[in-house]
Amino acid sequence: MTQEELFKKLIAHCKEYGYIFPSSEIYDGLGAVYDYGQNGVELKNNIKRYWWEAMVKLHENIVGIDSAIFMHPKIWEASGHVGAFNDPLIDNKDSKKRYRADVLIEDYMAKIEEKIEKETSKGQKKFGEAFDPAQFRATNPNVLRLVEKIDTVKQRMKEALNSGDLDALRNLIIDCEIACPISGTRNWTEVRQFNLMFSTQMGSVSSDTNQIYLRPETAQGIFVNFLNVQKTGRMKIPFGIAQIGKAFRNEIVARQFIFRMREFEQMEMQFFVRPGEETKWYDYWKNARMNWHRSLGFGNEKYRFHDHEKLAHYAKAAADVEFNFPFGFKEVEGIHSRSDFDLGNHQKFSGKKIQYFDPDTGENYVPYVVETSIGVDRMVLLVLSASYSEETVTKENGETDERVVLRIPPMLAPVKFAVLPLVKKDGMPEKAREIMNMLKFEYNSQYDEKDTIGKRYRRQDAIGTPFCITIDKQTLDDNTVTIRHRDSMQQERVAVAALAQTLDKLVNMKYALQNLNPEKYK
Ligand code: GAP
Repeated sequence: MTQEELFKKLIAHCKEYGYIFPSSEIYDGLGAVYDYGQNGVELKNNIKRYWWEAMVKLHENIVGIDSAIFMHPKIWEASGHVGAFNDPLIDNKDSKKRYRADVLIEDYMAKIEEKIEKETSKGQKKFGEAFDPAQFRATNPNVLRLVEKIDTVKQRMKEALNSGDLDALRNLIIDCEIACPISGTRNWTEVRQFNLMFSTQMGSVSSDTNQIYLRPETAQGIFVNFLNVQKTGRMKIPFGIAQIGKAFRNEIVARQFIFRMREFEQMEMQFFVRPGEETKWYDYWKNARMNWHRSLGFGNEKYRFHDHEKLAHYAKAAADVEFNFPFGFKEVEGIHSRSDFDLGNHQKFSGKKIQYFDPDTGENYVPYVVETSIGVDRMVLLVLSASYSEETVTKENGETDERVVLRIPPMLAPVKFAVLPLVKKDGMPEKAREIMNMLKFEYNSQYDEKDTIGKRYRRQDAIGTPFCITIDKQTLDDNTVTIRHRDSMQQERVAVAALAQTLDKLVNMKYALQNLNPEKYK
């Protein structure tokens, strides 16, 4: 199965099992807007909790807020979003399709990268165990030519984006002979800038003066509350403010399911530091955030850092944490060194002094900021795509069976336990209800007595329930149950008296949080 086929299956699975639905589906949907179903919302909430607790609970110097989506329109002038939050767009005159110019070029480079991969795997086949991929890439003339091509294109794109030279961007598309994927022609328009913010009117009268924006990032709600939090929380620098909330962007190239949406959710943290200490904290947060990602156990090789080719208008340094999605390595989180750009500008635009008196140095200054910014929806997609697995299993009688299983880390799984009476008689449902009632105050659990036990296991595998607790005849004799492990499909027998403690060890988020140990990155 190709990665593309796998991704299509995952999207269908998300709909079939109550994870993610297209928004307004009965009206044929709304582009790049999605709704979370009964399982999706639980997964999303668990991801948010793991982030919030890793940030706010584990760091004594980080607190959280929840600021409004609507903000004073001047905020978006001060933040630079009115002037510079743009994407470079280009249209194909034949298909009438619109593209992001930089994305067309990135896709072109990705295709060259694929060619390099193909050459490398050919070499692997030819030379077998003696093959050294690094040496091959450094010496094979074909590969060297392709690498040079990528480097040249990357450099030209970087220069064009950083200088805002839209003609240079178009020339690059022409020189690379990039064709429209729909029409196959190279009949391109000029490249134009397009602002990504949604705007609306506040109040009953429509005029330019009451135009407001739906926030394109949650960060500005943190910046404008810097003084409120610092003073009321008696916070001493360095300290952070965290927030989880919706953000809105009128994305032109909205694709890859919930990877790029027009309405999405962010988890952002602004860390305020003494000027001159930003590099130290930038490195700290890069390590701490990568560690958080890796703690989910999907494999360290699935993650990498990518330094930005083009820095956002506010950033002095920026790196992405990228994950190997079914459509390749893509950004899931950004770590940005934002200097005093935001607080300095809000000071200028609002006319209010936004400074910190440092008792250790006796100085007043505008703090510098290191930001961590991660998309909740992208994390949901990351977890689902890393967890989706189609497997052939051999049953006890030797027959084989197919199963689709979501190997979601237990602490993030929407349903932690399914409580299953083996049959619907002999007092088993009553005993199962008793266990269900004991568990439901701690964990999201599901009671199911319909169909054969095998079918019920498959249903739970498909939604990613990590443990099934089965009540059988022996339960009624000796008050023990079986716990069936989703991933290994192994079963163990446990006394009901020890059940709560056993289950806690299997699913409680606190153990993962204990292992994070953020102190070690200082
Ligand atoms: N405050 C900085 C900021 O917003 P960003 O790189 O534009 O930086 C941060 O966005 C994160 O938000 C991204 O790494 C991504 O996970 C998520 N994100 C951005 N645009 C998105 C979109 N259209 N749909 C889903 N997630 C998005």
